[in-house]
Amino acid sequence: MSARLQAPRGTFDVLPADAARREEVEGAARRILGSAGYARIETPAFESTELFARGVGESTDIVQKEMYTFDDGGGRSLTLRPEGTAPVCRAYLEHGMQKLPQPVRLWYLSSFFRRERAQAGRYRQFWQVGAEGIGSDDPALDAETILLLAELLDVLGVRGLRLRIGSLGRPQTRAAYREELTAYLRAHEEELSAEVHARIDLNPLRAFDADHPGTRRVMAGAPLLIDALAEEDLAHFADVRALLDDAGQPYEVDPALVRGLDYYTRTLFEFTSDALGAQSGVAGGGRYDGLIEQLGGPPTPGCGWAAGIERILLAGGERPTASSPVDLFVAVAKPEHGRAAFRVVTEARRAGLSAEVELAGRSLKGQLKHADRLGARYVAILGDEGAQVKDMESGDQVEARPGEVIARVLRGRRADR
Ligand code: HAM
Repeated sequence: MSARLQAPRGTFDVLPADAARREEVEGAARRILGSAGYARIETPAFESTELFARGVGESTDIVQKEMYTFDDGGGRSLTLRPEGTAPVCRAYLEHGMQKLPQPVRLWYLSSFFRRERAQAGRYRQFWQVGAEGIGSDDPALDAETILLLAELLDVLGVRGLRLRIGSLGRPQTRAAYREELTAYLRAHEEELSAEVHARIDLNPLRAFDADHPGTRRVMAGAPLLIDALAEEDLAHFADVRALLDDAGQPYEVDPALVRGLDYYTRTLFEFTSDALGAQSGVAGGGRYDGLIEQLGGPPTPGCGWAAGIERILLAGGERPTASSPVDLFVAVAKPEHGRAAFRVVTEARRAGLSAEVELAGRSLKGQLKHADRLGARYVAILGDEGAQVKDMESGDQVEARPGEVIARVLRGRRADR
C-alpha cells in the first residue's frame, strides 16, 4: 500500500461540520455589506506577480518572502494572491469602474495564500472577507467601512474586541519621517534586535512591531509619524474620529500602529481580539489613496479592510448551529426496488423537498435507523406492494402508491407549519 497523502502544511480542510459557521459569516457579510451598497466581486486566485510587487510593496514581508510565485510555462511570472486589495483595484481599473458613480463599493470572500510559519490562527491558505470603497477621500468612507466591520464582528460573536486606529498621512510626510526614524534607529543600533537592525533601511517602521525588549525600549522614545502629519491629514483624521465618536464606536488612537502592507495612506486600523493567542489580529485595513495610481490608473482614493475568517471563528467560540432538516428518506424493502426509490427521491427534490435515498445496501432496519439519525420527518418504504409512508414523529404508517408519496409528504409538511 502506498503512503497515505495529507494536505500540505499550513492548509486545512473545511469539513461539513465547519460549513454552517462559515455560511453564517458569508450570510452576515452579504446582509450587512449588501444593505450598505457593497456589491460582491471575485477576482482570480492568481495574478501577475507585478501586481503585488507594485501594489503591496517590494519591501514588505509578503512580497519579500511569503508569496507563492511560479512561472506559467510561457515566461510570465504569476503569484497566488496573498491579499485582495491590489486585485480589486486592478479589476476596478480594468473594467472602467471609474466611470460609475463614485465611490464604488465592493466586497469579497475568498481564499488567500502566504508562505507563513503555520500555527494556530496562521495558515498558508486562509480565507478573508473584505470590503473596499473606491473613488472617495471623504472621511465618512473611512468611518463607514470601520463601522460596518465592527457590526460584522459583533454579529458574529467575536469576543474581546479592541479597535486601534492611526494615521500615516501622505507619502511625502512618510518619506521625510522615514529618514528621521532611520537616523534615530542608526543612533541606537547596538540596542536593537538583529532582525530589526538588518532591516533598518528596508522597513524601519516595522521596528515598532518588535517584541525584543531592547528594541521596545528604543522605540518608546522614537519620533512618531503622527506628530509630523500635514494639517490637512490631521484634519482628515480628526473627522474620522469625530464620526466614530458620533456613532458610539470605541477605539484607541495608536500612534505607532503599523501594518504589513505598503499601500496605506492616512487612516489605518486594526481589530484585535483577546480571545486569540499570538495571532490576535482579527481584521485590518485603511486608506490607500495612492494604490490605483501605482497600478497605472488615474489618482483615485480608496479605503477598505479584510477580516480573517478562521480568526473570526476562533474568536467567536462555539455557537450552536441548526442542522438542515430532511423531509423525506426513501428506503427500499428489497434491493430491486432501488430504481423506483430513485424515481421517488428525484421527484421529491424537484418538488422542493429535502430528500435522501438509500445507497449503502443497508437492511430495512438499518435504513430506518439511518433515517432516524438524519432526523427525517417521513420515510417512504418502497416494496412489492407499492409504498408505505411512515410519519417518524407519530410513528403512524399508511399505504400509498409510489406516485402519491410526494403529495402525502407535502400535505404533512403543510400541516406541520
Ligand atoms: P492583512 O492585515 O494582511 O490585510 O490581513 C487581514 C486579515 O486577514 C488579518 O487581520 C487576519 O485576520 C487575516 N490573515 C492574514 N494572514 C493570515 C494567515 N496567514 N492566516 C490566517 N489569517 C490571516 C490585508 O490583507 C489587506 N488587504 C486588508 C485591506 C483591505 N486593506 C485595505 N483594504
